[in-house]
Amino acid sequence: MSIPSQGFQSELLAIDISQDAFDNISSILKDKTGICLYEGAERLVVSRLSKFLKPLSFTTFEEYLQHVLSPNGAPELEQMINALTTNTTRFFRERGHFDLLENQIMPHLIEKARNGERVRIWSAACSSGEEVYSIASVILKCLPNAADYDLRILATDIDSDILEEANAGEYRLSALEDVPPGYAEFIFEKEQSGEILKIRPQARDLISFRYLNFMDPWPVSGPFDVIFCRNVTIYMDEATQMRIWAGLEKVLHPDGFLFIGHSERIGPSLSNRLELFGPTAFRRPQAISLNSTSIMEKQNVTSQYT
Ligand SMILES: C[S@@+](CC[C@H](N)C(=O)[O-])C[C@H]1O[C@@H](n2cnc3c(N)ncnc32)[C@H](O)[C@@H]1O
Repeated sequence: MSIPSQGFQSELLAIDISQDAFDNISSILKDKTGICLYEGAERLVVSRLSKFLKPLSFTTFEEYLQHVLSPNGAPELEQMINALTTNTTRFFRERGHFDLLENQIMPHLIEKARNGERVRIWSAACSSGEEVYSIASVILKCLPNAADYDLRILATDIDSDILEEANAGEYRLSALEDVPPGYAEFIFEKEQSGEILKIRPQARDLISFRYLNFMDPWPVSGPFDVIFCRNVTIYMDEATQMRIWAGLEKVLHPDGFLFIGHSERIGPSLSNRLELFGPTAFRRPQAISLNSTSIMEKQNVTSQYT
């Protein structure tokens, strides 16, 4: 059913979306990715998807959807999902997590690495890479020869286009505004080409970028010493969030650390298995203790973050 009176149009292409088409897109997106479109997101859907209709000579979202769901529609389905994910991110977002990584966790990871043990870090839902390159810069600042050890970072996302961008490792000069003093030299090459900043090979080489959809079986075994899974479950319903947290807890090293976004909550089912280590930072209650500073800091963290 078309609802032009309250429908949303792409200003350039003048394509309406009917309530049915919007509902179908919402349910495909939820089914495939766990992302729930908020009520009234028609305008967002039209603005992000209209551009795909014209090259396929479709004039309605119904035709487009029929194609997307057909046996030949897999590339357009992937394109549709990529277009509907929200990839907002920046270097050192939620800065306190990187301070915890540097000051509390890195001494423990360096000891492990120097003892010849395996160290694994996962940036789950890494978007365009700013998060994982921030992690790499902290590691290189603390352990400049990190590549000499069995230390690797996995960076995953569902959006194949954004993963390509992350892998390319090129950023606008303005990205420097988000990088605190003393870290840029560990992230970016010294020589700039015009307005583009390039990631240093030393940072790039620590990282493997891979496609991973939380809604499918996860091709990771862990255990991970540190997991960053931030600002992705905010778009999902509670049951999906709980499944993701439980899955992450399973692949977390017994002494590992889990960082979630500042507006996310792990919920009651996991709060007896994980305890706060810092704001929206968790580890197991029985994990080895680090040092007295971390315990003091833990006492200052209020339960508002659980
Ligand atoms: C807002 S970004 C967060 C980026 C980064 N973690 C941060 O906090 O800045 C959310 C990312 O989650 C990814 N995402 C959404 N649904 C996903 C799913 N089902 N599986 C894996 N990644 C997903 C999106 O593609 C997007 O890049």
